[in-house]
Amino acid sequence: MTGPSGTGKTMLARAIHHRSSRRKEAFVEVSCGALPETLLESELFGHVKGSFTGAVANKKGKFLAADGGTIFLDEVGNASPALQVKLLRCWKTGSLSRWEAIRRLRLTRGLY
Ligand SMILES: Nc1ncnc2c1ncn2[C@@H]1O[C@H](COP(=O)(O)OP(=O)(O)OP(=O)(O)O)[C@@H](O)[C@H]1O
Ligand SMILES: [Mg+2]
Repeated sequence: MTGPSGTGKTMLARAIHHRSSRRKEAFVEVSCGALPETLLESELFGHVKGSFTGAVANKKGKFLAADGGTIFLDEVGNASPALQVKLLRCWKTGSLSRWEAIRRLRLTRGLY
């Protein structure tokens, strides 16, 4: 979806979610344009405690939070090509590799 701010992109994404079979599951919006790359990566994929300065606890990440539901990546075109590759891999395979994670996590229920 494209359009200037306030034209209803988020509203439309929510409407699609609420009319889908996943309406009872989570709808998670991530603003990809607003965060620096490293923060965005940990926001999306989560991180384990101690993997970088400031990582004071395990963080679940938005992909896992949206498992079974819908994740809406706002301004995804502003994410770097490297991060977009990771997004695509996560979306296609359902596998998440957390920063310095020992175990790999999988999305079990899939995503829109
Ligand atoms: N077609 C519409 N009918 C009624 N309300 C609308 C419509 N489109 C947008 N709105 C309202 O306008 C506000 C902004 O819409 P929304 O947040 O979906 O825009 P957006 O395109 O996602 O903007 P941004 O690029 O800033 O994220 C919301 O409060 C939404 O409810
Ligand atoms: Mg929006």
